[in-house]
Amino acid sequence: MEYLDMMVNETLRLYPIANRLERVSKKDVEINGVFIPKGTIVMVPTYPLHRDPEYWPEPEEFRPERFSKENKGSINPYVYLPFGNGPRNCIGMRFALISMKLAVIRVLQNFTLQPCEETEIPLKFSRQPILQPENPIILKIVSRDKPITGA
Ligand code: HEM
Repeated sequence: MEYLDMMVNETLRLYPIANRLERVSKKDVEINGVFIPKGTIVMVPTYPLHRDPEYWPEPEEFRPERFSKENKGSINPYVYLPFGNGPRNCIGMRFALISMKLAVIRVLQNFTLQPCEETEIPLKFSRQPILQPENPIILKIVSRDKPITGA
């Protein structure tokens, strides 16, 4: 399911649920000439990093090929951070990835999703800290000719 994996990764690039990360510095430190005193909250801007043209050509475009076998090796793990990084990264990452993939597979085996009149394009984000749409995403669901049933 290589392409599904690429598609999920690209979706999390454009829509990182945690659009920023935070860390508190444990001691005084200087990084690249910037002095960070102990106790400072340092914000990591995931959303802007995921759309930075320096790292992602045509960043606003949905291009799963960025995560192909050939390309994914060149992705900087401190630029692509949908699940954070380091000792406090997301403990549920593998579970989340497999659950999302299974849900997509289960739906697409039986239905096709299409935009319709009520679909809000472009999508508006809410102002909540967790990235989410302002309004529900409404799509037309079309049953496939030969549904696949069973487990
Ligand atoms: C698409 C789904 C999910 C996304 C995008 C996501 C993303 C994240 C991110 C960005 C962090 C902060 C990491 C950091 O600061 O470096 C985090 C932390 C965490 N996540 Fe998730 N998460 C997801 C699903 C889950 C699930 C399903 C679970 C549990 C079953 C989970 C449990 C946790 C926990 C416990 C932490 C805190 C880890 C710590 O502080 O040591 N997450 N997640």
